[in-house]
Amino acid sequence: MIIAIDGPAAAGKGTLAKKLAEHYGFAHLDTGALYRAVASRVLRAGASPDDADAAAREAQALTEADLKAEDLRSERVSDAASRVATEPGVRAALLDFQRAFARRHPGGRSGAVVEGRDIGTVVLPDAEKKLFVTASAECRAERRWKELVSSGSAIRLEEVLKSVVERDRRDQERAQSSLRMAEGAFLLDTTKLDIDEAFTAAKAYISGPN
Ligand code: DC
Repeated sequence: MIIAIDGPAAAGKGTLAKKLAEHYGFAHLDTGALYRAVASRVLRAGASPDDADAAAREAQALTEADLKAEDLRSERVSDAASRVATEPGVRAALLDFQRAFARRHPGGRSGAVVEGRDIGTVVLPDAEKKLFVTASAECRAERRWKELVSSGSAIRLEEVLKSVVERDRRDQERAQSSLRMAEGAFLLDTTKLDIDEAFTAAKAYISGPN
């Protein structure tokens, strides 16, 4: 079984995907990490994330080791990731990897939870279960801000909100594979839910008939 989870930045997709993968004994793929790893390579190479050729080149050269880069969750890489993600050459280079992962069901597991922006719409449109996880921009910014502050950052909440809104705009407005809810997906708005409540709602949908 494939569970596709899409939604905007900092909506809680990652935590939910991990919990669901653990619960069902499925493999888990965070596709945002692939775009982040490409962005991190581009920055390390001294290129601009808006340079289409450099971004596509780095996407083709991506290795497993790049997924462990230390700066993957930094604000700088978050911003650059949403830029390289607008390049069709980058998306094409990452598409096969994502599909192969879902098909292989790594480790002999019987399913996979794959999270991103275009999983239910483009990458795995045949996924049995599709969730669209979202929350208000203010709520997502506050969650992300708390995470950053607890890891020692002195960033201000307004700055995080600005960056979340900007990334939403880029993810929604890009020409290819823009962020949108897949037809028939289950909408999970976590603005007023904690992680346990979101998990319970997701499980009820996954175990249900549709
Ligand atoms: O989920 P995330 O914040 O780690 O994703 C980082 C960026 O990668 C996001 O701004 C857009 C891009 N992305 C994408 O375009 N398609 C995906 N399937 C996953 C992420």
